[in-house]
Amino acid sequence: MRSPRLEALRSALEKAEFRLAATQDLARVGDWELDRHTGRMYWSRELFRLFERPEALGVPDLNEALGYFSLESTNRTRDLFWEAIDSGRRCALEQEVLLPSGEERRHFTVIVPVADETGRVFRLYGTVQDITERRRLEAERLEHLERLEELSRHLVEIEERERRELASALHDRASPNLAALQILFSSLADALPESARDELAPLLEDASALLADTTAGIREICTNLRPATLDYAGLVPALREYVAQFRARTGLDVRVDAASGSPPCALSRATQTLCFRLVQEALTNCAKHARAGSVRIGLGGCAGGVLLQIGDDGVGFDLSRLGEAGSTPGLGLITMRERVELAGGDFRLYTRPGDGTVIEVRLPAELHPAETNR
Ligand SMILES: Nc1ncnc2c1ncn2[C@@H]1O[C@H](COP(=O)(O)OP(=O)(O)OP(=O)(O)O)[C@@H](O)[C@H]1O
Ligand SMILES: [Mg+2]
Repeated sequence: MRSPRLEALRSALEKAEFRLAATQDLARVGDWELDRHTGRMYWSRELFRLFERPEALGVPDLNEALGYFSLESTNRTRDLFWEAIDSGRRCALEQEVLLPSGEERRHFTVIVPVADETGRVFRLYGTVQDITERRRLEAERLEHLERLEELSRHLVEIEERERRELASALHDRASPNLAALQILFSSLADALPESARDELAPLLEDASALLADTTAGIREICTNLRPATLDYAGLVPALREYVAQFRARTGLDVRVDAASGSPPCALSRATQTLCFRLVQEALTNCAKHARAGSVRIGLGGCAGGVLLQIGDDGVGFDLSRLGEAGSTPGLGLITMRERVELAGGDFRLYTRPGDGTVIEVRLPAELHPAETNR
């Protein structure tokens, strides 16, 4: 006769078993046990499903079970079984599984050793999870990321090429014409009768100043688009030239601290161009947003590359509030970070309202191959 207590226990046990099976089914996780001495295994029902093994075939022995894996996974699984036994610690691995249907799956297996009171491992148990879908999604995500990086690199290349082409076109078309106009203008002024020249003197001076100003303006635009000094003399002289122009234009006190000599000079052309563009954007931000008294640009060596710092003593800002409703986020900081990271470097920005802004960039001396043809 069954006691009510026994019945209640049996019913609770059945419920627990049902829940466990349902959970394994949902999570696609099976579990197993291996008696080390008899070599006998236990497989949960879900494990049969994961290996497409009909339950009628019964539980396989260890060698047969290892036959489900690729050769490499078989060897690795064997090694980890021994490692778990020798060390008494749990181990985990990913396995390539070849199912009877011909489908390939990826499993994540955890192996847990169970030891007796003398420390001898007499049993192993563990879980197996089908992670094929997760791995597929991860691979897809990586592929998208790589494509996006490739696209961004390409855009940066196009931007630099267009800057160069625009600078050349502007220089070739406008500069000689402006120089010729200046000569023509002086000849015309000289050819005027003296009385007319005196009468027109203020106008002539105005026009001459306008011509000179336009010439200087176009030269400055060309320099910004493609700093020739960067090609001829390298980064530090190009930065000093740009900073001098910037100081004259904005009245901001900007200082360049560059360790003269070694690290920056050894930088590839692409690294130098990138540093120059970063300083251009950072200084533009200082002029537009910082209300700073002074700006310091530091350029020095760091392990395998260059350390560029641009710091101002201006109003600073709250990074976490960028892009909040009501404000239109700019692209300068994002583009800077993206270009640095694409080049294999590290971009950091330190700022707080009322506390100035510091940008710190580390770049390798040689950029990523895709960056070097700029
Ligand atoms: N040096 C700085 N001092 C104070 N605020 C700054 C500084 N640099 C950036 N900011 C703040 O960060 C915001 C984002 O800068 P970012 O360069 O990305 O965009 P932007 O300058 O507004 O526009 P864009 O660069 O696209 O012309 C700025 O609008 C400004 O509020
Ligand atoms: Mg900006």
